Amino acid sequence: MSNKPEGTGIDSVLNESRRFAPSDDFAGRAHMGSLDEYHKLHARSIEDPGSFWAEIAGHLDWFTPWDKVLEWEAPDARWFVGGTTNLCHNCVDRQVNASMGEQTAIIWEGEPMDGGEPEIRRLSYADLQRETAKFANVLKSLGVKKGDVVTIYMGMVPELAIAMLACARIGAPHSIIFGGFSASAIADRVKDADSRVIITCDGSWRRGNVVPLKDNVDAACRQVDTIEHVVVYQRVANPVEWHHEPSESHNNKRDHWWHDLMLAASADCPCEPMDSEDLLFVLYTSGTTGKPKGIMHTTGGYMVYTYYTSRIAFDMHANLNQVYWCTADIGWITGHSYIIYGILPNCVPTLMYEGAPNHPGPDRFWDIVERHEVTQFYTAPTAIRAFMKWGDEHPKAHDLTSLRVLGTVGEPINPEAWMWYHQVIGQERCPIVDTWWQTETGGHMITPLPGATPTKPGSCTLPFFGVDVAIVNEKGEELPNNTGGLLAIRRPWPSMLRGILGDRDRFIETYWSDIRTESGEIYYKAGDGARRDDDGYFWIMGRIDDVINVSGHRLGTMEVESALVAHDTVVEAAVVGMHHEIKGTGIAAFCTLAPGVKPDADLRDTLRSHVANEIGAIAKPDMIRFTDALPKTRSGKIMRRLLKDIAEGRESTGDTTTLEDLSVLAKIRESDE
Ligand code: WT7
Repeated sequence: MSNKPEGTGIDSVLNESRRFAPSDDFAGRAHMGSLDEYHKLHARSIEDPGSFWAEIAGHLDWFTPWDKVLEWEAPDARWFVGGTTNLCHNCVDRQVNASMGEQTAIIWEGEPMDGGEPEIRRLSYADLQRETAKFANVLKSLGVKKGDVVTIYMGMVPELAIAMLACARIGAPHSIIFGGFSASAIADRVKDADSRVIITCDGSWRRGNVVPLKDNVDAACRQVDTIEHVVVYQRVANPVEWHHEPSESHNNKRDHWWHDLMLAASADCPCEPMDSEDLLFVLYTSGTTGKPKGIMHTTGGYMVYTYYTSRIAFDMHANLNQVYWCTADIGWITGHSYIIYGILPNCVPTLMYEGAPNHPGPDRFWDIVERHEVTQFYTAPTAIRAFMKWGDEHPKAHDLTSLRVLGTVGEPINPEAWMWYHQVIGQERCPIVDTWWQTETGGHMITPLPGATPTKPGSCTLPFFGVDVAIVNEKGEELPNNTGGLLAIRRPWPSMLRGILGDRDRFIETYWSDIRTESGEIYYKAGDGARRDDDGYFWIMGRIDDVINVSGHRLGTMEVESALVAHDTVVEAAVVGMHHEIKGTGIAAFCTLAPGVKPDADLRDTLRSHVANEIGAIAKPDMIRFTDALPKTRSGKIMRRLLKDIAEGRESTGDTTTLEDLSVLAKIRESDE
């Protein structure tokens, strides 16, 4: 990504110097109100992480205090060692105990707008406590015990929040799978986590259509035989198949309606005391091989870090009538950390919206902001680019004056989109927090603090407290300012991943092998390229590995390639990212076909839907080209750089001397799309 906004030469000089300082009014009321204060506290958090994090952890409830804040033996961190707590307690019961039971915890809005009015549900902390305790008892009645992984595959309904909090309540780690993933993706994850229970919905609403979640679970259950129980929350009342009978592998009936089980459940279920380092959840993310990685997050450090980053980066105040809305799906880390776990302990209502941003019309989000008087709004650059394209008239038709802080996450935001967000949505009044982080980091790592950090469009600015980021080479040597390099993290932070489920070697290889100093220290490799400017601000340049970022979510090129070659007609495939106006990065696939297969438009459609079936719609190639051969080095490595040039319609300028057969490139260029 270019760091300069597009435009004339003069413009870009001017643009480059744009800075947006928080207003005095905002700064005056913020938790962190000056850059000086930030620098001082950041220095303290690095010099003495023990006392810094102990103080923050003390904001929350612990059942037994920790003996030691941190034990670190790279790459293994243990935070709040010996302490016990429960994250569901800190999200829910703590508020009830503090006489806030009647206050709103979750505001939910459904997608359908029949008759012009959406369905709205408000759950107080007391409601959430009752429902969560009941569902926790349901899980226990199905034989779920502390340590058992529960798979959740649901739409954005409050019951999704209830299900995950119920898991946390009894110490059963959840594995939430985004509702856009396919049956095979569910089966792979269920198998990897050895999960015996799936919680799902009959379906969910998306742009007026029903997503058949239960059908997908049924199909997944035909691919794995470990599933003993499927609990189904009825949301859309579409017809679903029902498995009443014991199966070959299990002697109980498999499918249960959520509402039937809840009828009999008691609302009394104390929170299980969890060791700070007990597994809280597994969340799968893409890597460079075909197999997704089950990223493990544990209890205490994750709780403290997501609570505190939410509080400071979104400037959350329990007593200022705030309403916070993150538009992500709970199936991604953004939803885990910044719809539920980090937000509820801050006692600010979290808004959940069920459906699409353009249903029934392109102003749906602004309609929601106005209706609920949203104060903090957190979304992705891909969504912002879509809003820009749909036209300013949609946000302008709504009263957005409630907004105070805007956030973005998922990929670098181009300065044009940043400026549009600032002017049209924030009305030049709201600080923008461009938060850089990852599934693995659990919480924000580099982000402006809205009352303290002057922002520059396109930069995620400065590291959060306790975070030590550097731009380095593979020897861990810091590179000069304004030089692109590897983004590394040099010290442990509380919400860091604790590993990849069942794959210690991959954990070490992926994150802890490539950056090693002469003295033998190892740094966390984020897999992003970045630079730092003379003010110490970070600018993310994108992924350095074979991972592409589509609409703010990572996909391994290998995963898409494996899906393509799994189809009978394809013998070899290469997948690269290419520029895409809305998604940021689109997917280009180059396929070599089996002898006799006709390369036509029908086959393209077939392959697109095949990939959607194998992985999910998010992985559908935007462009498929058929070719007799792929450009390879003499050692047989596919030269993706050249394919990217072709996908983006550029001549290849780089070195092609290692290319085995130069005529291959010309042939691919001639092949039509
Ligand atoms: C990758 C992590 C963290 C939740 C969403 C994605 C990219 C994320 C930013 C940002 C530039 C960003 C990075 C990162 N990314 N946020 N503010 N600016 N790039 O989570 O799927 O784990 O992907 O997303 O490349 O490594 P994820």
